[in-house]
Amino acid sequence: MTRAFDAEALRQCPLTETLEIHETIGSTNDRAKELVAAGAKLPALVLAENQTAGRGRGDHRWWASNGALTFSLALETTTAYAKQGLLALAAGLGVTDAVKATCHEAPQLKWPNDVLLQAKKLAGVLIESPRPGSLVVGVGVNVENRLDGAPAEIQQRACSLVDHGKATRQALLQAFLAAFNQRLSELESSDPQLLAAARSADALRGKSIEVLDGNQTYRGIGAGFADDGALLVQQGSTTIRVQAGSVRLCQTL
Ligand code: BTN
Repeated sequence: MTRAFDAEALRQCPLTETLEIHETIGSTNDRAKELVAAGAKLPALVLAENQTAGRGRGDHRWWASNGALTFSLALETTTAYAKQGLLALAAGLGVTDAVKATCHEAPQLKWPNDVLLQAKKLAGVLIESPRPGSLVVGVGVNVENRLDGAPAEIQQRACSLVDHGKATRQALLQAFLAAFNQRLSELESSDPQLLAAARSADALRGKSIEVLDGNQTYRGIGAGFADDGALLVQQGSTTIRVQAGSVRLCQTL
């Protein structure tokens, strides 16, 4: 049984001008978009114990069990946040920073939107633009939940913090809000620390990868991130920039 969220403690954290905590909701991203449309004070944090229609990137669903941390932040878009490649890295770093602070583990970023711990997926980020001027950053992290009841494919490639220490959702969320707020200010001020941290947490660098970008598939070696957060892929003497897509790690080239 997981403990209920401490709303008062969350109200003291950055990025919580508006705070909603739901027992059950369709998707926190959808609720955050509704808050934007209704003119709620931003940043707004929407948290849910359970989502009945949690969404992942593309047409994927987001599977979560009791004890997972699922939330969305609605933000007013500044010029800097409009660079969505960097925003996704900033959100991923918010998770890696929070895990370091609470569990003393060092997760890695799998471009564009995943956080891996020991090569397994710990968290995913879904960024959407409800309308010009605002953005919704949705985050799902396996924290206090076990994956025993998950579909076999998820059990194989995902992991949970429950097996890596004693982090609670509350502690992880508070650490995330502090860290992400700091990463957002680095993004706004073009502080090189943001990209330096992302580059040193890059799970794909030097690895054989396959990138699916629309109808195109590229194979090559992960060669880091460009200054706008695009993925660089080395193919022989050529370096390709990929702005959007999904990545598979290959065993061999
Ligand atoms: C992915 O890995 O494809 C992204 C997963 C994002 C899941 C989170 S859970 C909270 C928020 N609400 C949603 O419906 N999705 C995101």
